[in-house]
Amino acid sequence: MPGTCVIGLQWGDEAKGKLVDLLTPNFDLVVRYQGGANAGHTVVIGDKTFKLHHIPSGILNPQVKNIIAPGVVLNPGTILQEIDSLLADGVDPSENMIISDRVHVVCPWHIEEDKALNAMLVGGESIGTTLRGIGPCYRDKVGRTFAIRLGDMFRDDFAEKVRGIVTAKKRILSGIRGDDAEGDVELDADAIISEFNGYAERLKPYVADTNHLLHDAVADGKKLLFEGAQGALLDIDHGTFPFVTSSNSSGVGITGGSGVPPKWINKVIGVIKSYSTRVGGGPFPTELDNEVGAKIRDLGNEYGTTTGRPRRCGWFDAVAVRYSARLSGVDALSLMMLDVMSYLDEIKICTAYRIDGVETNLFPSNADDLRRAEPVYETLPGWNHDVTAARSIEEIPELAMSFANRVGEIVGVPVAMVSVGPDRAQSIFVDGNAQQMAGVGG
Ligand code: GDP
Ligand code: IMO
Ligand code: MG
Repeated sequence: MPGTCVIGLQWGDEAKGKLVDLLTPNFDLVVRYQGGANAGHTVVIGDKTFKLHHIPSGILNPQVKNIIAPGVVLNPGTILQEIDSLLADGVDPSENMIISDRVHVVCPWHIEEDKALNAMLVGGESIGTTLRGIGPCYRDKVGRTFAIRLGDMFRDDFAEKVRGIVTAKKRILSGIRGDDAEGDVELDADAIISEFNGYAERLKPYVADTNHLLHDAVADGKKLLFEGAQGALLDIDHGTFPFVTSSNSSGVGITGGSGVPPKWINKVIGVIKSYSTRVGGGPFPTELDNEVGAKIRDLGNEYGTTTGRPRRCGWFDAVAVRYSARLSGVDALSLMMLDVMSYLDEIKICTAYRIDGVETNLFPSNADDLRRAEPVYETLPGWNHDVTAARSIEEIPELAMSFANRVGEIVGVPVAMVSVGPDRAQSIFVDGNAQQMAGVGG
């Protein structure tokens, strides 16, 4: 049973959605297993653009089952909006989407806590979260006392549970904010209960125990594609802490979040942009706070899918990606946004850091050390040629392929696909085809 995973190797938005959609026809199930509505995965098919937050990017293939596994944190109102927006586009997820009853539910108090905590500085800087309540929801999951799982919304004691949590949360919020949360209109227990009962009714047909379903799928030899959210450098344990998200967004999170044991994961594809971006706070050694960075932002349309925030842009950081590829057990790279680099005179790749005068190619564990890292660059010539119409390797300028191959060489993993635009058709397999890249033969 092949289990393949798509993981972003930078700080998110590497175009995982595009790659998952492209590979989906080779699989039986697509599984989202961590993160929540902080993710924004874009799939472009012809003149239609789909922006998905919780819903797996396999949803546009009706023959494939899409699973939202226990490690996800789910905002029921937001996923219903996603469902409605798909329905408006003629895609009906009710036939092929299943949500685990174990997922933890993002509640209004989580959003309020996220706002209050994000306004505070950590290490002199705001984390700059997506304000989707992700960190507070994961904290309550680990803390257990104030947690609500999707399955709880269908049980008799749901209202009582919400009332108890709201009372405690008002006190906690007052403590954090130093105000009187009693007056907080967002935290009216009766209103929340009635709103969430409405959500429960609409979500009911989607809810099941996905653990049994996935274990059966594995036993039946079905092919599974796991869709990572965020990027490996935002991993809670192994990323640029504390400027990270609250889940294991690198390859190490696949089995914990999905409930599928590690022995069934046999291929990991790392998705990278031809440059680097980051939204929110945190160290970013190759950031370009100049006209080149602005040009990359414009050409790459680097504005957040979820929040619309302008993304910070910089050169490709091979030190960071070599680390995240090793952390995630990556077998093949998918190099995205090659087209965005087309009109730069020269292109830089960061091959090492100089930290306090010492050169290293090891990614530091401490954000302050990373903040002091000065990038050491290798400079490659630009190719000054539009690649968006290319459909085979032969149509890509030699200098562009030299860049792609050099990236693979420094990272230590071969580039198996290059992407020259957002559309499905703008995807070129370097050596082989989609099946081979996906690890499903062919
Ligand atoms: P994800 O979160 O990793 O799925 O990525 P996002 O959807 O947040 O951001 C990727 C953006 O780049 C989306 O707007 C995609 O439509 C777009 N995109 C994907 N591949 C390419 C590419 O090769 N070139 C360009 N120019 N845009 C791309
Ligand atoms: P996709 O799946 C880019 C970033 C936020 C912030 C940090 C913590 O589309 O690649 P959070 O709301 O998770 O507590 O925010 O993580 N972040 C992302 N950045 N793409 C994402 O998802 C992200 N999800 C979270 O900007 O810096
Ligand atoms: Mg995104």
